[in-house]
Amino acid sequence: MGSAFLYLKLVLAFYLLCHYVTVAQAEEDFPLPLKAVNLGNFLVTEGSMKPSRFDGIINKDLLDGTQVHFMSTKLQTYLCAEHGGGSILVLNRTRARGWETFRLWRVNESAFNFRVSNKQFIKQGEGNKLAADSSSPSDMETFQIVRNDDEPNRVRIKAPNGLFLQAISETLVTADYEGSDWDDSDPSVFNMTILTGRSLNGEYQITNGYGPDKAPKIMRDHWNTFITEDDFRFMSENGLNAVRVPVGWWIAHDPTPPKPFVGGSLQVLDNVFTWAQNYGMKVIVDLHAVQGSQNGRSHSASRDGYQEWGDSYIPDTVATIDFLAERYANRSNLVAIELMNEPIGVNLQSLKKYYQAGYDAVRKHTSSAYVIMSNPLDKDSKVLLSFAETFNRVVIDVHYYNLFSDTFNNMNVQQNIDYIRKQRASDLSSLTTADSPLIFVGEWSGEWKVKSASKLDYQIFENVQLEVYSNATFGWAYWSYKCDSNHWSLKWMIENNYVKF
Ligand SMILES: *[C@@H]1O[C@H](CO)[C@@H](O)[C@H](O)[C@H]1NC(C)=O
Ligand SMILES: *[C@@H]1O[C@H](CO)[C@@H](O)[C@H](O)[C@H]1NC(C)=O
Ligand SMILES: *[C@@H]1O[C@H](CO)[C@@H](O)[C@H](O)[C@H]1NC(C)=O
Ligand SMILES: *[C@@H]1O[C@H](CO)[C@@H](O)[C@H](O)[C@H]1NC(C)=O
Ligand SMILES: *[C@@H]1O[C@H](CO)[C@@H](O)[C@H](O)[C@H]1NC(C)=O
Repeated sequence: MGSAFLYLKLVLAFYLLCHYVTVAQAEEDFPLPLKAVNLGNFLVTEGSMKPSRFDGIINKDLLDGTQVHFMSTKLQTYLCAEHGGGSILVLNRTRARGWETFRLWRVNESAFNFRVSNKQFIKQGEGNKLAADSSSPSDMETFQIVRNDDEPNRVRIKAPNGLFLQAISETLVTADYEGSDWDDSDPSVFNMTILTGRSLNGEYQITNGYGPDKAPKIMRDHWNTFITEDDFRFMSENGLNAVRVPVGWWIAHDPTPPKPFVGGSLQVLDNVFTWAQNYGMKVIVDLHAVQGSQNGRSHSASRDGYQEWGDSYIPDTVATIDFLAERYANRSNLVAIELMNEPIGVNLQSLKKYYQAGYDAVRKHTSSAYVIMSNPLDKDSKVLLSFAETFNRVVIDVHYYNLFSDTFNNMNVQQNIDYIRKQRASDLSSLTTADSPLIFVGEWSGEWKVKSASKLDYQIFENVQLEVYSNATFGWAYWSYKCDSNHWSLKWMIENNYVKF
């Protein structure tokens, strides 16, 4: 009897101790401000960070979203969707602008749909005439680009009926040509211009570029090698205490996401939590790519560069957040969930409606994880401040790059440093008031526009940024951990003594 009672007391004491430790952990286990690094180009592809991953794609210059012009070599005029779409195709323009620009939707290595500026698709219609008035692509909107062996931008366009497009006149293009000449005088020959500066190289392009047979292995090899557990040892040994992990909406559909996305990334995110835990590090899950695209950029997994996320996408996007919060709420090193990365051109009311619903979805599963709201990139950094004050444990994410704007074009070293000390510091302090939510510099980089800067210049620039951004109440996250371009790679910067924490 006595010993049974003692046993019970011991069990109770042990239970209380465990409970106390758990609660204490939940309350103070967030060492703010965080010193974090982004795991960019890991679970959401950014081709410019490692271009070689695209090398095995056939016709890799014709990926989804590639913008092209077609000039008839016979007429010396450009193919044009009259009125930008919703009407006929003509060939009566001598200059190529918006209406003469076609965005590719890749069907396979040689077959494509052509999306025009009003977002319709070109279609082979009645009497083999062509129109740009289809709202969704299928067989009659699928054309093959046949490239000349010696001159790959000299092309002929094969219509769904197996015949080639030809320039009959400046106002008539038909799909009924059977010849096979490549001469300039041939009515079926076009000079294709690829608008290289505007190409996309994100997750959509790499997975659809390789196609369903090759993409799964390519992606899995990337996930298995790009970042491994040993990288977490390196990060923690070098003073970092958190990672921000960009993920795409398709992760919630693992292991069988809609095409062209590839399953298997969810297991990798699970591993990230475990590896981080093993080295005492926290994890921020960042929904970097939402269905419809919140910014039209490669890193939002946009197919063709149009920003189409809006009200109709809110339920699906909230479901993705709900999935992530439910799955990771019981991981003690989940520090935050970021609802969306870098919206640009998104309606502010829609964004707030979504942020409210996304916040509620996270709170269904955890009261301790922070909820991060990304500030719209095209709006003032204070635009969400008063809205965000109404929530509990909410963070505003601002991104500070001395890049991507003409402002920095001709700045020298000292001007860059002054910009950080003055403009960035004052922006941060204006965001940080007594009632304000926490502030996170969720992306910044050691790269700038200064040409042939010395190592010392870089070191000073990194130090000044660290000094100023350490005022961010939630912390900061360097972009990115690994990158082919050295100054974008925090690993390289640490190994080569450019930066130290
Ligand atoms: C091109 O052709 C269309 C259809 O005939 C016509 O409406 C339009 O004005 C023409 N544009 C030019 C610049 O000639
Ligand atoms: C690509 O798709 C087109 C149209 O559906 C088809 O005719 C062609 O055989 C396909 N090519 C390859 C290489 O799969
Ligand atoms: C094709 O277009 C390119 C530029 O877009 C130009 O340099 C080239 O001369 C053109 N070729 C022909 C045959 O018109
Ligand atoms: C979290 O919950 C899942 C599902 O209920 C469970 O399988 C897993 O072991 C839990 N993980 C931790 C760290 O408690
Ligand atoms: C950090 O913030 C405080 C309070 O706003 C300010 O006085 C200080 O100058 C800031 N430090 C830096 C390096 O910007």
